[in-house]
Amino acid sequence: MDHIHGPQSNELFQAQSHLYKHIQGFISSMSLKCAVHLGIPDIINNHGRSITLPELVSALQIHPSKTGFVHRLMRLLVHSGFFTATKVSQNQEEEAYDLTPSSRLLLKNKVPCLSAFVLSMLDPAFITPWHSLGKWFQREEALTPFESAHEMNLWEYGKKNSEFNDLFNEAMVSDSGMMNLVVKDCKPVFEGLRSLVDVGGGTGKVCRILNEAFPHLKCTVLELPHVIADLPDTENLKYIGGDMFQAIPQADAILLKLILHGWSDEECLKILKKCRGAIPSNGGKVIVIDIVIIDDKDEHELTEAKLYFDLLMMAVVTGRERSKKDWENLFVESGFTSFKITPIFGLRSLIEVFP
Ligand SMILES: C[S@@+](CC[C@H](N)C(=O)[O-])C[C@H]1O[C@@H](n2cnc3c(N)ncnc32)[C@H](O)[C@@H]1O
Repeated sequence: MDHIHGPQSNELFQAQSHLYKHIQGFISSMSLKCAVHLGIPDIINNHGRSITLPELVSALQIHPSKTGFVHRLMRLLVHSGFFTATKVSQNQEEEAYDLTPSSRLLLKNKVPCLSAFVLSMLDPAFITPWHSLGKWFQREEALTPFESAHEMNLWEYGKKNSEFNDLFNEAMVSDSGMMNLVVKDCKPVFEGLRSLVDVGGGTGKVCRILNEAFPHLKCTVLELPHVIADLPDTENLKYIGGDMFQAIPQADAILLKLILHGWSDEECLKILKKCRGAIPSNGGKVIVIDIVIIDDKDEHELTEAKLYFDLLMMAVVTGRERSKKDWENLFVESGFTSFKITPIFGLRSLIEVFP
């Protein structure tokens, strides 16, 4: 029998655990999706105090034959930091579950509520392309893995599948719920602006938040027509169906939230040049909200989340996550003279770009 030379067995077992943890990584995402599907965060919250396993089981709408499995789902979710479990009974055997800051972000009727983001990003339409990523690397074709899997790009897919479109737009609304905090922390960025166009602004969540904080700001959402179909204008919020590669309406500021990371450098340059032409040379600005990869400064977990987004952009669209230098190159090449990055909110940074 061959002996394994090199690392000690202890090291090999550690390597095996490391490998298996990553092989099974999808189980973490899918268990979280299951918790959202079953409404576990809201059940715990509505209970008003820590909830024991029997109380949770009786509140869940599950088949009686499945009640014995719940504690196993909860054990993993506790381990992953989505819930806490504390011993409550005299003999210290009974546990009661509570929310953590992460699962508080999944409560319905609270802002922000990221449940729609969980359900949308883990929808089979987004998961399917990953199965053929290896083959995608081997082929010459220019299609994205999403296009290979679905024979159309993400935006065409949304146009054809209204349920997916609604869920994706809801996910973006849920993500934009966090903008309340950004507007509060970055007030000066928006102060003094009379008009703003949110390019690819979804169903207008960010503009509605801005309208509340700055009642005199005239906002416009430029979006693909099927995303904003039937949405009524309000006094300070107008919807325009169009294509950002063709024309962007004039305004004091253009907002690009989670837009540029979805497009290649060539495509970003086209968008940024259109933005440059839509703002005044004096006093105008483009406000980019997107990821900036800062490997030497970010904590390990934050970098990992950013790198997941980078591969997501590779699998579903033509984009990528960029370093500060990558962003600088794009801004300079599209004719802007300066920019200022405020990396204040976790994954994303706010970048003001000036003509
Ligand atoms: C990742 S979402 C971001 C939505 C929104 N900015 C937010 O952060 O909540 C990208 C958006 O770009 C829109 N979009 C894609 N192609 C577009 C185009 N050619 N012109 C205008 N909007 C477009 C999509 O419909 C989608 O709503």
